[in-house]
Amino acid sequence: MEVAVTLQEFRKRRGALVGRVGFVPTMGYLHAGHMSLVERARGENDHVVMSIFVNPAQFGPGEDLEKYPRDLDRDLEMAKRAGVRLVLAPENTADVYPRGFDTYVHVEVLSRLWEGQKRPGHFRGVATVVAKLFNIVRPDVAYFGEKDFQQLQVIRRMTRDLDLGIEIVGCETVREPDGLAMSSRNTYLDPTARARAVALSRALGAARELVAGGTRDTGPILARMEAILKDNSLSIDYVTIVDPATLEPIDRLVGPARALIAVFVGRIRLIDNARLEPNT
Ligand code: PAJ
Repeated sequence: MEVAVTLQEFRKRRGALVGRVGFVPTMGYLHAGHMSLVERARGENDHVVMSIFVNPAQFGPGEDLEKYPRDLDRDLEMAKRAGVRLVLAPENTADVYPRGFDTYVHVEVLSRLWEGQKRPGHFRGVATVVAKLFNIVRPDVAYFGEKDFQQLQVIRRMTRDLDLGIEIVGCETVREPDGLAMSSRNTYLDPTARARAVALSRALGAARELVAGGTRDTGPILARMEAILKDNSLSIDYVTIVDPATLEPIDRLVGPARALIAVFVGRIRLIDNARLEPNT
């Protein structure tokens, strides 16, 4: 495995790769969720390229940029064992955002909803860095987790709208044995918070059960989800059921939909989501 810590070094090494390239962008502190993207990419490409970069542009003021967990040595060991061919791990933020940097990618409507409304500027930062990484890495296909469902849809929209010519693959959320979606931020949870956090996946499970049992109006499903979250003393940021493409809320299930949750466990913010399918 090769590791490039500057863009210049990366471009040289990337230029030497022949064949189909699958790309897995990350902010590091890797876990089994990230590694599932690598595994999928390995199966479908000649080479897997991973980026590890904690992107300042997607963190708002007062968010966790400074304390975002980092362990590059461990990440590189995991990437190597998983068969990643080339890693881009910029050591200087100024290499990615040089002085005078002034161009941003803004996916307008999709970025205004949910996470975008709660975290202004977040998706502008995500879309901008992913567009840059796509140009630097020049992959054939890129892999993103459904864990960040809105992010996946924003990136799909950007890739289509700007004719980037890269295939976007969405991968299922990898969970802990008790259902908690894996996340680098789970490391912030103390044991009590960790126990309460299971309510996110429980609420999503309850929603799926109601749908399987024939419930089609979203009102009672949302009420059930909210009750489960509140019973576990989680403070709700939003709970909604949306059209998976537009992310607009829906009143009734007529086709596949997505339940989205954002809560605070104390001061730690967690998100999760699940597909709801009326026909299965
Ligand atoms: P990060 O949070 O490190 O996540 C990198 C990728 O791993 C994302 O596509 C995310 O959806 C996926 N992922 C995270 N947890 C997962 C889980 N439990 N199961 C499956 N996939 C999971 O998302 C980002 O970084 C950044 O916003 C990035 C796209 C790299 C741009 O900076």
